Amino acid sequence: MSKLMSLMRPQSVAIIGASNTPGKIGHAVVENMKSSGFAGEIYPINPKDPEVCGLKAYPSIMDVKKPIDVAVLCVPVKVSVPVAEECGKAGVKHMIVITAGFKEVGKEGRELEEKLVESARQYDMRIVGPNCLGVMDTHTPFNATFAKNMALKGNIAFISQSGALCLAILDWSLKTGLGFSQFVSFGNKSDLNEADFIEIAANDPNTKVICLYLEDIVDGPRFIEVAREATKRKPVIILKSGVSAAGAKAASSHTGALAGSDTAYETAFRRAGVLRAATMTELFDLASAFTTQPIPKGKRVAVITNSGGPGIVASDSIELGGLEMAEFSENTLNFLKEAMPSMANIQNPIDVIGDAHYDRYETALNAALADPNVDAATVLLSPTAVIEVDKVAEVIVEARSKYPDKPVTAAFTGGFAVEKGVNYLRENGVPTYAFPEPGIHTLIGMAKYAELKEAVQDHEEWVFDDVDNDKVQAIFDKVLADGRDLLLSPEAVEVAEAYKIPAAPSRLATSQEEAQKFASEMGFPVVMKISSPDIMHKTDIGGVKVGLKSEEEVRDAFVSIMENSKKAAPDAKIYGVEVQKMMPKGDEVIIGMIKDPTFGPMVAFGSGGILVNLLGDASFRLASGLTKREVEEMIAETKAYKILKGFRGAEPDDIPAVCEAIARVAQLCRDFPQISELDINPVFAYPKGLSGIDIKIKLSK
Ligand code: COA
Repeated sequence: MSKLMSLMRPQSVAIIGASNTPGKIGHAVVENMKSSGFAGEIYPINPKDPEVCGLKAYPSIMDVKKPIDVAVLCVPVKVSVPVAEECGKAGVKHMIVITAGFKEVGKEGRELEEKLVESARQYDMRIVGPNCLGVMDTHTPFNATFAKNMALKGNIAFISQSGALCLAILDWSLKTGLGFSQFVSFGNKSDLNEADFIEIAANDPNTKVICLYLEDIVDGPRFIEVAREATKRKPVIILKSGVSAAGAKAASSHTGALAGSDTAYETAFRRAGVLRAATMTELFDLASAFTTQPIPKGKRVAVITNSGGPGIVASDSIELGGLEMAEFSENTLNFLKEAMPSMANIQNPIDVIGDAHYDRYETALNAALADPNVDAATVLLSPTAVIEVDKVAEVIVEARSKYPDKPVTAAFTGGFAVEKGVNYLRENGVPTYAFPEPGIHTLIGMAKYAELKEAVQDHEEWVFDDVDNDKVQAIFDKVLADGRDLLLSPEAVEVAEAYKIPAAPSRLATSQEEAQKFASEMGFPVVMKISSPDIMHKTDIGGVKVGLKSEEEVRDAFVSIMENSKKAAPDAKIYGVEVQKMMPKGDEVIIGMIKDPTFGPMVAFGSGGILVNLLGDASFRLASGLTKREVEEMIAETKAYKILKGFRGAEPDDIPAVCEAIARVAQLCRDFPQISELDINPVFAYPKGLSGIDIKIKLSK
């Protein structure tokens, strides 16, 4: 057992601040530990009482003189640091610090929290909290919390940043009969955080599904690594509140403006293989389904109903949610034709119609589950006067056990008339809802997990070894030495070329002669632009000339661009005139990168051009660890993909070349963390190859 596992499987628990006074937290924790069925030693610590809640108490943890796995601190904040110090000296392995008044209250509290962490580090102790409800495990069992009750035994680990939410969920779960394996409130996460608890739950044989409520994530890369590993074994479902700062702050680039406030978490969760729940209801609907149902092998769902309307509602949800209505095999259709009355609909959704008794459900459900074209089923029931609701419930439970590889959900719509059947289904592990859609949403979540589980197996970062790091470093050094953070356009093109990211050739000319030479080297026509970070609207001041077709036109353009710019902006620092080859028009896309403070660089792809932000069509992935499969997926998610594939009979563009350019941009941003933002917009995509037209690279100084 790893050291961290002994937090959930302690053999001895000390409660410091244990109290005989009912109503105090130190009293509640002792009573909870006593009534939890904990088989190990409980050591109440109280400076004046020799006995607490009928147990021998010790004046200090130092007086116990026996191994202590976990110490629960419920002492006032001002004594918590010296108490932690004593815990260290007494050889405590883990502290659960319930006490509040640390970093959540401001500077003084933050300093105290730092001291708490310092003394824990000194003695190699781990901390849960401070400012938390505590921890319980129903299989150990132990309850080191001050909650009113112990959770029911089950297979869901619930890990929460909010203690209050834990209390609410716990109380609700007792009413609904939902069981938990672990229940963790980690408070200020001064030491142990969400990643540690995901790791613990992933290694816990009694946990089948891991649920989290999170407000933020401490260490993005570690979270992703741990959650990915966990996803290979069991689903990780997260309800995340609050928004990240990245999208909001980075609006200076097109890519930044394309990112929504939630893009970073969305992107990170996808990489981590995490299932995201939109609501608390969805979180626990899915969690309880995962504890009772098998993971579906595919997306094809059969619907069995005794009324038309709910069947249509379910079919709509199936299609909208990315699942498929199963198409029954010939065998199944022939069988149903014989077995069902002629008025019944034997195509999916199977409508056993309003005069059905339970046996029609039995026939239809078994036939559907036996069909190899069906991966899951949902059974809908409206309470007619003739239907034996309880018997239908029994039929479903029996069919579930006959076909253990196929998940089944049910919606018995109604109230009193269906209550007994609903209870029977729930008691026997069939997720049952009041209406059709939640059952379908559960199946959607389960099918999504099957996809995520497969995706996290793919680890192969897409890497190129034909790149020139030294050249890029030299350009960046030069830019920074020049006191700039934004690369001039020709410099950005040089960087792109060093990483074999296709870009329209561009050179910086400082004289008429140079301009003429560059233009004839790259070939006509060319476009020329004033090169100055101080001039924003270059076209407006006569700083841009397009369609230059001869050496003479280039020489003239150089002179007039310089004159116009000096006149319009006499104080601007002018580096010269950029000469860029005019490329044939292609389909316009954007490739870019923004950085998230928690998760690092994210690459973006979408519809490009001047309407980029109006169109708002973009897809993001983390640059680090980017795989070929992810690049292909991100392109396929956008509307731009339809254009690349050849919209309305147009010739398709070179999609593999677009994929490669995205992967090369990702590698550039991984190799050079000093790149703070990158935009290539537009990129012209052609049937053969592509070309980056306008490249902006910003560095952090
Ligand atoms: N060692 C051992 N016991 C000590 C001690 C020490 N160094 N110093 C004090 N104690 C004992 C006290 O004597 C008292 O026991 P008693 O009732 O027998 O006198 C017990 O610890 C508690 O101390 P007390 O001063 O009565 O504090 P309290 O119970 O009113 O409050 C906390 C203590 C930790 C509960 C409180 O400070 C707190 O943080 N409350 C908020 C908790 C919270 O909301 N957490 C987040 C949830 S999500």
